[in-house]
Amino acid sequence: MVSNQSLASFSKEHNNLLESQLEVFIQQLQAPNNLKESMLYSLKAGGKRIRPLLLFATLRAFGIDTKVGAYPAAAIEMIHTYSLIHDDLPSMDDDDLRRGKPTNHKVFGEAMAILAGDGLLTYSFEVLSQMPDHDADSRMKIALINLLAKSAGAEGMVGGQVADIEGEGKQLNLEDLEYIHLHKTGKLLVCSVMSGAILAKANEDQAKNLEAFARHLGMAFQIRDDILDVEGNQELIGKPLGSDTENLKSTYPALLTMEGAKAAMNQHYEAAKQHLRLADLDSALLGEIADLVVAREY
Ligand code: IPE
Ligand code: IPE
Ligand code: MG
Ligand code: MG
Ligand code: MG
Repeated sequence: MVSNQSLASFSKEHNNLLESQLEVFIQQLQAPNNLKESMLYSLKAGGKRIRPLLLFATLRAFGIDTKVGAYPAAAIEMIHTYSLIHDDLPSMDDDDLRRGKPTNHKVFGEAMAILAGDGLLTYSFEVLSQMPDHDADSRMKIALINLLAKSAGAEGMVGGQVADIEGEGKQLNLEDLEYIHLHKTGKLLVCSVMSGAILAKANEDQAKNLEAFARHLGMAFQIRDDILDVEGNQELIGKPLGSDTENLKSTYPALLTMEGAKAAMNQHYEAAKQHLRLADLDSALLGEIADLVVAREY
């Protein structure tokens, strides 16, 4: 294990692991071919894989063999991909482009897009339940399943998506907007880091600080997403600009001005870094991921 590995090489190595894992998982399914094709289309459409990267980097911060994260990383990326397929549907954000490619429903039709999302959502829990015993014992598997369910469900991402949709066309306050960002986006990022913490048997203090690190990082991540929707480069971000304005979404730039949004993002970034220091781990890679989140152009 190389402790001072660069983020670029760490990320390349772990992306390869994840890509092959995802492909094998989908190929293994005894299911209609066009369903598998639709699931794989979005899974392999070129996402940044930030959630898996966070999970692997958390394991590395504890000096744990990162391979034990392969199944949970794949499971989280399946949930994330399902959330994007549904997020783009005409009844939600109604977007035609995602990751530089036509959105799932544009290629496979709405019914198949909904079902591919359902398939990915359900399969993620099957994958977790099938983690090799030498990677996680039964208690750990249940803890991982419980965390992913809570993070993705009504108390997590789904709740945030509901608030986001219901907030369209309304003047929300900062507290409402924080709820949306923390839930629709933050919860799955927290889940990624805390899945690593579960596998690494983090102590209470480490867990508390890692949780706060990921929560602030999640906020910064979604504020950056809002900013890029206004002033990003469409070719780079691979999804249409101005989708939020068109849908009358409440966003940080809309509520606080662009300058205020950038200041809020930086505050969350600084708070994230502070908690990472307090966690007192070998966390160079996690710190670099945080740098990437606020500087990202896509
Ligand atoms: C996009 O997430 C949706 C949000 C939660 C903001 P990502 O920016 O991580 O999307 P991909 O996976 O890289 O396409
Ligand atoms: C999406 O937020 C959050 C989830 C999919 C859970 P957005 O609607 O802002 O994401 P993009 O901009 O379409 O990627
Ligand atoms: Mg949305
Ligand atoms: Mg959207
Ligand atoms: Mg967005």
